[in-house]
Amino acid sequence: MSSRKRPEDLRSHRWLGASDLRSFGHRSRMRQIGYDADDWNGKPVIGIINTWSEINPCHAHLRSRAENVKRGVLQAGGFPIELPALSLSETFVKPSAMLYRNLLAMETEELLRSHPLDGAVLMGGCDKTTPGLVMGAISMGLPAIYIPAGPMLRGNWRGGYLGSGSDVWKYWTEKRAGNISEDDWSEMENGIARSFGTCMVMGTAATMMAITEALGLALPGASSIPAADSNHPRMCGAVGRRIVDMVWEDLTPAKILTKEAFDNAIKVHMAMGGSTNAIIHVVAMARRAGIPIDMERFDQLSREIPVLANVRPSGKYLMEDFFYAGGLRALMMALKDRLDLDCMTVTGQTVGQNIDGAQVHIPDVIHSLKDPIYAEGATAVLKGNLAPQGCVIKPAAADKRFLKHRGKAIAFEDYNHMMREIERDDLDVTANHILVLKNAGPKGGPGMPEWGMLPIPKRLVKEGVRDMIRISDGRMSGTSYGACILHVAPESYVGGPLALVQTGDEIEIDVEARRIHLHVSDEELARRKAAWTPPPPRFTRGYGAMFSEHIGQADQGCDFDFLKAGAPTPEPEIH
Ligand code: FES
Repeated sequence: MSSRKRPEDLRSHRWLGASDLRSFGHRSRMRQIGYDADDWNGKPVIGIINTWSEINPCHAHLRSRAENVKRGVLQAGGFPIELPALSLSETFVKPSAMLYRNLLAMETEELLRSHPLDGAVLMGGCDKTTPGLVMGAISMGLPAIYIPAGPMLRGNWRGGYLGSGSDVWKYWTEKRAGNISEDDWSEMENGIARSFGTCMVMGTAATMMAITEALGLALPGASSIPAADSNHPRMCGAVGRRIVDMVWEDLTPAKILTKEAFDNAIKVHMAMGGSTNAIIHVVAMARRAGIPIDMERFDQLSREIPVLANVRPSGKYLMEDFFYAGGLRALMMALKDRLDLDCMTVTGQTVGQNIDGAQVHIPDVIHSLKDPIYAEGATAVLKGNLAPQGCVIKPAAADKRFLKHRGKAIAFEDYNHMMREIERDDLDVTANHILVLKNAGPKGGPGMPEWGMLPIPKRLVKEGVRDMIRISDGRMSGTSYGACILHVAPESYVGGPLALVQTGDEIEIDVEARRIHLHVSDEELARRKAAWTPPPPRFTRGYGAMFSEHIGQADQGCDFDFLKAGAPTPEPEIH
């Protein structure tokens, strides 16, 4: 551990401690807000980056949780300052919150850089907010702790569980099949989201909150606490106290985020049965940290780490049950023989010290390595002539008969084309067909929307079909399930092989062999490529135009090319 900082070493001292014209301005304006020298003199200034907004129900409690953090900061002798940041409600932000993940990352990095801050508390949880906040904080490099918003309460319908997303897709299909009524559907609308907090299945939010804790960037056990549980505000107070010490210790993300820490996070992802979206976000976070993690690493670890968490969509329970079963500390304890227990964390202690004493209280919710839910990990990476840079599938959430399959493609040029066709009663389709959706990638979507769980064609739904192979260059919600092959790279919009697929082509999938093959000759593919014309630009101005110019493909984490780790950005001059 580095030696402790002195007050004059604090970054904020440059703004507030100097004796010049500019520091007069800074201090006089602090007094304008109502603070006095006793508030800041010799104290670490802690920026609380809060993604609360009135239109993000997953973060509705973060406004008051920030007060818990401030109390902790004050108790530990720091000076808390709250700064609002882009809220990115997964439900409301269109065309896709993924379009704006990098914007939040840039905002976080520059908020921290441009203000007189010494440390950061990052408050988020709804899907893209976690990677956005963490990516920005990694790039800035100040000591930082992440506060997970925590999952909402279990959904309830007539005494049974309802899981965010997962049960929406399930019952929507039953409604299309005529098996449930408008009244049933309306009752579910009233019962599925019962409190503030994130989606309470193992969707992208729960996955990324757990991954960030496993990386060592959150307090032990924080990611599993339900948003409405009183443990949550108490955890926020503890974060406020701890971040002040982290500043004195100069415990920066660079001292925590090693290759071994990322391996721990990926292993936890596999054992959680986590969302496929995690691949994109973890690759992006690792690139920010200058750690070489790619999709292959996910695939290697998926063969070693089984799924232990029995949580929807791969399993049976919800995140509230996972908390009662012991939460992430208990899962990491069950996995401890496969983890690097020496990795440093925000507590100033190692992973091994943080999980010491953790126990599984409900064995059917958190299984053991000897009795896993699914023998292999959450995510498999396939490659072949249809996806030269790779694509992913979540085998644990798919009908097992599709893990080795050959079938004829039905190709859709874009989302609207797909939606028109799948509702047709005369669509020539069987459960053995393979649905292919183009133009759902990072540039083509745009923003790589979660369209990858294509609806089962209406005609098959009525026949009782509930799963079939679907291939796209889009993502799918972590709450989704089925034999969906996602993130095909390069995407069709830039002329990847997916753009060349025609209805009637045969496609072969072999998950065990990690292979995906389009049975069309190289000569025919070259002929189709020569005849292919690029679609028109999605944006000609604004943020969208910048996004289109700089966004990377899925296998690169969809970060902007100019944001990956490189030469350090200089501290701002104060003039
Ligand atoms: Fe916010 Fe799912 S909509 S976490």
